[in-house]
Amino acid sequence: MCGIVGYIGTKKASPILLSGLSKLEYRGYDSAGISTIEKDFLSVMKDKGRVENLSKIRGIDKLEGTIGIAHTRWATHGKPSKENSHPHQDNSKTFSVVHNGIIENYNELREFLTKNGYTFYSQTDTEVIPNLIHYYYSQYKKDDMQNFLKAVRKACLDFKGSFAIEVISKLYPENMIVVRQDSPLVIGNCEDEKYLSSDIPAILPYTRDFYLLNDLEFVVLSKDKIEFYDKDLNKIEKEIKEIEWDAASSEKDGYDDYMLKEIYEQPAAIKNTIDSKISLDNKCEFNELNFTKKYLQSLNKIYIVACGTAMHAGLAGKNTLEKLCRIPTEADIASEFRYRDPIIDNKTLCIFISQSGETADTIAALKLSKEKGAKTLAITNVEGSSITREADFSIYTHAGPEIAVASTKAYTCQVVLMNCLAIYFAEILESSDDKLIKSLKSDILDLPKKIKKVLECDDEIKKFAKKMYREKDAFFIGRGVDETAAREGSLKLKEISYIHAESYAAGELKHGPIALIEKGVTVIGIMTDEELVKKTISNIQEVITRGAKTLIITNQKIDDKGFDKVIEIPKTNSFISPVLSIIPLQLLSYYISKYKGLDVDKPRNLAKSVTVE
Ligand code: F6R
Repeated sequence: MCGIVGYIGTKKASPILLSGLSKLEYRGYDSAGISTIEKDFLSVMKDKGRVENLSKIRGIDKLEGTIGIAHTRWATHGKPSKENSHPHQDNSKTFSVVHNGIIENYNELREFLTKNGYTFYSQTDTEVIPNLIHYYYSQYKKDDMQNFLKAVRKACLDFKGSFAIEVISKLYPENMIVVRQDSPLVIGNCEDEKYLSSDIPAILPYTRDFYLLNDLEFVVLSKDKIEFYDKDLNKIEKEIKEIEWDAASSEKDGYDDYMLKEIYEQPAAIKNTIDSKISLDNKCEFNELNFTKKYLQSLNKIYIVACGTAMHAGLAGKNTLEKLCRIPTEADIASEFRYRDPIIDNKTLCIFISQSGETADTIAALKLSKEKGAKTLAITNVEGSSITREADFSIYTHAGPEIAVASTKAYTCQVVLMNCLAIYFAEILESSDDKLIKSLKSDILDLPKKIKKVLECDDEIKKFAKKMYREKDAFFIGRGVDETAAREGSLKLKEISYIHAESYAAGELKHGPIALIEKGVTVIGIMTDEELVKKTISNIQEVITRGAKTLIITNQKIDDKGFDKVIEIPKTNSFISPVLSIIPLQLLSYYISKYKGLDVDKPRNLAKSVTVE
């Protein structure tokens, strides 16, 4: 996790770095720091706390350097403290480094460097980086830019783990070296300025022309030049990529929080995601894919692998894929999948869902599936992200940048895209009833309109949130696809409101968890499947009898049976009903978090993209 920014150009670097960091804070926010090249020294300013703290450090506004690197941290090795904050320097203060990722063999390297006379001042894995660069650099007889590059390369080849690194040196005041392996880093290009960042939105205000780096590509930057090298330091050419997102899409746009803005962006995000893929009169189109009937018929299994919210979207996707295509499909948590020796061969298709495209466990699961001979298909929201570069095929949700740590619009777009994919497969396989496919397509096309309708429940939900925000426990229940939405609703509530929440298949409640139901507990029932609604209502009655407060999200006409609140949502095909039923639950979590006075967009202990295992 962690966010890194860099600048090399003609302007003062520090304000640009601070502004970039504040946009990356969602990646981690327990400490922050910057290093710039001043006239005759390398400045380092850092402290624990948020970027706002950093910007108040005395003297930061006096920095004149036009080259600098910066970091916002999500602590892995060593508690949040000034010493553990980045940038880190080598003992001679010749090199400054910021790092996102984990150097897994740092203990070994630390021991080696200690034996060679180096001292360590922090508990971080990162501090070995500048010292190892210094160790290799000092073996060269003369100061030379190529030797600086060679030293960085040698150090990187010693590292095990993941890293995106920016290095500056007082010996080379015109240059910066950057490299990545399994951690994100992009380069924004302008004529006489170069911007670096862990992700695109942080530097969108300056450029839309980006270079995306592959693992172990070394880059030497000056203000008006970029040189790329491969792992063996052969010069390589890279293509520039124009990014379609605009700067405005990563601003708050009048909303109090990114999360609320992103909830309200869902109609447009879904429209962008389905545009050009779905129409009533034509077959579903995925230009990026070339699956044939023969190939799809040969499949013995589909795995959908992801983490957190993306995994919940995968569960909804599994339901549609199995029902429309009749191919056995499993949805699995990436961190479990990769260690459970899954049965995979060349008749398996593995689908990986990830908003960021950078989640370490999902990337590792993808690599494993490839090794075992499966075809791999990535579904992400970020073009050029690590997952898309590993996968055989990539398709995209077009949700626009998602900044709030809690995922909202990415989830609904993932559910919709999984459904489009299932239709695409079913049409090739001719495995499903035409009428069903047509009505599902029509319901998908209607989603943006229906989401707008659901968003009208904002005030009602806000009132319910006021009644609930002091409580400590909540249960989310549903059956079938509603159970997958219950999981997502429960995750949203706990991550941003810190209320303990659990999700259960409604029928499971009486097999144990009902023992916890008493006054002061809220039970939220999701009921969108006509066939199952009566059963879930019975389960809700059981909790009302035991004193629970209840909130019902439904698209069915149900009699008032003593529920505290019923939110009616429009009817739609049950395959895609989580797209509608989750919206009141996103709003509920949002308002509870607001009533509790919490930081909605940056909940404690979390970070937006989880690039560590
Ligand atoms: C929860 C949330 C996380 C992510 C998970 C996977 O709101 O955002 O559970 O869904 O960390 O992240 P991606 O989709 O980037 O792989």
